[in-house]
Amino acid sequence: MEFTIKSGSPEKQRSACVVVGVFDNRKLSLSAELIDRASNGYVGEIIRRGDMEGKLGSTLLLHNVRGTLADRVLLVGLGKERDFRDREFRKAVQSAVKLLNETGSYEAVVYLTEEKVKRREVAWRIEHAVAVAMETVYRFDRMKSEPAEVRRPLRKLTLSVPQRSDLASGEKAAARGLAIAHGVELARDLGNLPGNVCTPGFLAAEAVRLAGEFPDVKVEVLEHGQIEALGMGAFLSVTRGSDEPPRFIVLEYRNAPKKAKPVVLVGKGITFDTGGISIKPAADMDQMKFDMCGAASVFGAFRAVAELKAAVNLVGLVPTCENMPSGRATKPGDVVKSMSGQTIEVLNTDAEGRLILADALTYAERYEPEAVVDVATLTGAMVIALGHVACGVFSNSDTLSRALVAAGDDAYDRGWPMPLWDDYHEGLESNFADFANVAGRAGGSVTAACFLSKFAKKFDWAHLDIAGIAWREGKEKGATGRPVPLIVTWLLAEEAAPA
Ligand code: BES
Ligand code: MN
Ligand code: ZN
Repeated sequence: MEFTIKSGSPEKQRSACVVVGVFDNRKLSLSAELIDRASNGYVGEIIRRGDMEGKLGSTLLLHNVRGTLADRVLLVGLGKERDFRDREFRKAVQSAVKLLNETGSYEAVVYLTEEKVKRREVAWRIEHAVAVAMETVYRFDRMKSEPAEVRRPLRKLTLSVPQRSDLASGEKAAARGLAIAHGVELARDLGNLPGNVCTPGFLAAEAVRLAGEFPDVKVEVLEHGQIEALGMGAFLSVTRGSDEPPRFIVLEYRNAPKKAKPVVLVGKGITFDTGGISIKPAADMDQMKFDMCGAASVFGAFRAVAELKAAVNLVGLVPTCENMPSGRATKPGDVVKSMSGQTIEVLNTDAEGRLILADALTYAERYEPEAVVDVATLTGAMVIALGHVACGVFSNSDTLSRALVAAGDDAYDRGWPMPLWDDYHEGLESNFADFANVAGRAGGSVTAACFLSKFAKKFDWAHLDIAGIAWREGKEKGATGRPVPLIVTWLLAEEAAPA
C-alpha cells in the first residue's frame, strides 16, 4: 500500500472516499463538522436519525454527499472523546481500513489522523495509522492452492495532518511506520510458514535474501562443523534428535561510527519444538511451528532498520534448529558443555530454547556489545503471567529495562518488567553439573531468565519472553510480528540519543 501526507479541507478532496470521525455520543469531529457544513447539515441529519452513535470502531458509509468532491464519505466511530487514546485511535483506523478494503474504494483520504490523542504528537498518529493500516490488510495465503482474491483492494491512503508545517514530520513518521510494518510483515510471514517449509536452512536462506535486498546488511551462516568447532555443546544438544541440519546465522548492519559499540539482537530459532524426549502432548502441538518467532522478529527488526538506513550498529544472532525425539536425541539427565565452559544437566529436553540461547549469548561477547537483547518464545509460564498483552522484560540493567518498556509503550507493543532476583536461582542447582536447565514449575519464566543470565554476565542484557504475544490462537490463529515494533522503536530512540 502507498501512503501520502496532505493538509487540506475534507470537503475539497477529490477522492474515492473521505474518512472522518464521530465521537460518542453523536458528536462530530472537526472534519466531520466541515463535511456537515458543506453538505448543508446532511451528516448531522443522518446522525440524528440514529444511524451512527459514534461507538468506537463502528462505521457508516455515505455515497454522493452533496457539497463534497469525494465519491463517498466514511464516518468512523471514535468512542468517548475524553477516552480517545492510543488503543482507541488504532482501533478507529483499523475499522476504517478494514471497511475500505472490503468495499469499492482503491484509495481514500483519512482525517482520523487529525484527532488529538492524549500524550501523542501528530508524528505518532501518522506512524501508527500507517502501521495499523498495513497490519489490517495483511493476509497469509502463500500455502493455499487458490488464494481468495480481494476485489478492489485498498491501494493508497492519504493521511491528513492539521497544518502544512506538519507535512515534513508527517512524511518522516509515515516512512517509519511503513518500515516497521514491513518488518512486522516479514516476521509474520516467517512465523506463519509451516515447519516443513520454514526449516533452519530456510531461515538461513531468508537471511541471505535479506542481505541481498539491503546492501548494508551482511550475513554469515555457520553450519554444523563450525558450530561444533566453536564448542556450542548446549546448542548442539538440542539439534541432536533432528535430521534437519542446524544453522547459526549472523547478521550485521553497521551505519553508525565504527567505534560505536553494536547492539546485539539474539533470536530463538526453533523451527519446530516437539519437546524432544520430554515430548509435548499432541493437542495444539502445531503451534510449536511458531517457536522461531524470536528469530523472525530479529529478521524483521533488521529489515526495518535497513529500510530506514538508521544510524545504528546492529548484530543479529540466530541459533536455529528443530527439537525432535529420536534414537540419537538428548535424554533427560544428559550433561552437556556450553560454549562458556559451564556444564548443564538437561533435566527436561523441552527446555531447549535456553540451551540454544546460552551459546548465542556467549558468542555475543566477541562484539563487546553496547547491549544484548534476546527475543524468545521461551516459556508457557509467560503466557500465564502476562497473557497476550505484554511480553516479559528481564534485564540485568534497570536503564535498559526502562528504555525497552518505554519503547514498547510508544510502539503500542508493550513489555513489562519481570524480576531476576538471586532467590530464583536456587531452583536450578544440580547434583551432577554446574546447574540444571529447569527449576520447578513455580515462576517458570523467571527461572528460565535466570538460566540465561548465567551466560550474560559480561554485558548489559535484556531478555524478552514473547511466548504470549508472538502469535494468536483460535479463529485468528497466526503470527503477530511482535515485538518488531518495540525493538525498532527502541533502536531508533537509541539512534537519537546514543549512550
Ligand atoms: N517453546 C516452548 C515455550 C512455549 C510453550 C511457548 C507454549 C508458547 C506456548 C518452550 O521451549 C518450552 O517448551 N518451555 C517449557 C519449559 C519447561 C519444560 C520448564 C514450558 O514452558 O513448558
Ligand atoms: Mn520446548
Ligand atoms: Zn521451545
